[in-house]
Amino acid sequence: MTSPATPWELPAGFSWGTATAAYQIEGAVTEDGRGRSVWDTFCAEPGRIRDGHTGEIACDHYHRWAEDVALMADLGVDAYRFSIAWPRIQPDGRGKPNPAGLDFYDRLVDALIERGITPTPTLFHWDLPQALEDGGGWLARDTAARFADYAEHVAARLGDRVRTWITLNEPFIHMAWGYALGVHAPGHALLLDALPAAHHQLLGHGLATAVLREAGAERVLVSNNLTPVTAASESAADRAAAAAYDTLHNRLFTDPLLLGRYPDLSAYGHDAAALPFVEPGDLDLIGGSVSGLGVNYYNPTVIAEGEPGAPLPFTTVEITGVPRTAFDWPVVPEGLSTLLTGLGARYGDALPPIWITENGCSTAEGLDDPERIAFLDGHIAAVSAASKAGIDVRGYFVWSLLDNFEWAEGYHQRFGLIHVDFPTGIRTPRASYHWLRERIGAGRPE
Ligand code: FCB
Repeated sequence: MTSPATPWELPAGFSWGTATAAYQIEGAVTEDGRGRSVWDTFCAEPGRIRDGHTGEIACDHYHRWAEDVALMADLGVDAYRFSIAWPRIQPDGRGKPNPAGLDFYDRLVDALIERGITPTPTLFHWDLPQALEDGGGWLARDTAARFADYAEHVAARLGDRVRTWITLNEPFIHMAWGYALGVHAPGHALLLDALPAAHHQLLGHGLATAVLREAGAERVLVSNNLTPVTAASESAADRAAAAAYDTLHNRLFTDPLLLGRYPDLSAYGHDAAALPFVEPGDLDLIGGSVSGLGVNYYNPTVIAEGEPGAPLPFTTVEITGVPRTAFDWPVVPEGLSTLLTGLGARYGDALPPIWITENGCSTAEGLDDPERIAFLDGHIAAVSAASKAGIDVRGYFVWSLLDNFEWAEGYHQRFGLIHVDFPTGIRTPRASYHWLRERIGAGRPE
């Protein structure tokens, strides 16, 4: 395999990793005392997931984790972003931790460290214990306090070896798809009434961060899905709609985290300074709490004004004239440098170091995946361009190590550097795995 010639100029010590999430890879949903999660419930509801797929077995990582660690070591990455399944640690979302659940991640962390791979766990990648959903899920303020308790149990076991933590994965997508549109678990279609789920996730992050720091955390991040937004035309209405969308997707979480305040929500009929679910002191806890920003990037967004009378003040416009992934997502690598330099322009000195905590694409099932190689090459070049433009980017995690359960799409979207034959669990590295291995290896000092 010849490497594409794109030169990457990344800072010394730049970290290379792969990312996964518990529900998408582990399987073993009833083993060792794991409780039920909202995703188990959602998958069991007819019509929710394409072809009725579920995460019941997934990649069987719960049993094959040692093999997966060996594959990562062979790939040459120095970091692994995985998520911890809250229902394995607290089957009912509260109370005494389940030792068998903690043991699983304890073994994984040790195996990673032994191979020189930095464990980078995410505490919440969407698999809320069903018992907490029964009490209102993230719409309930109490879930934030429960999250901090859960973080405390995990940190008590792993905090001697884990130094970097990610509290939340894509709180925007979780709020939008899980609570506003109902296409992900827990399946609520509340539209703008989903907003409390944003604040309570942020509050949970703030409370958990205090606990993690107490346990010796060096770095606490939130990984959010971000997208550069452009207006479909120069019209005032399209530009206002694009600004409103940008606020929701990019600022709703980042402004409170970095600036300690909510952005202007007037396009959504709210006074940002008087949100009914925000209590005194909440924003002090949230503001300035992150020591890094996790950026998950897949594609840019083009926005036009909303349909008259529609509940949302914007519509999404399809991006044409660019390659598309197997998921039909547009491929626009420059969008990533635009996004990163835009964050620099927006937040200035308040912008902490950035890690790209997810980036990747789905392709056809085969082992030869030139589309993935081109995708990764172009996007890493975009990271390199942003770094040269002065943005402090410190690492890049490929989504994903393995083909896995892609939420509402089931097993139909294959994002892996490694192919998984789901009936047998057999893993086979794709061409992109060998390509990345060579590129990472070439950049490493002898
Ligand atoms: C992100 C999710 C991740 C994966 C990728 C494709 O939104 O965080 O779990 O599904 O998309």
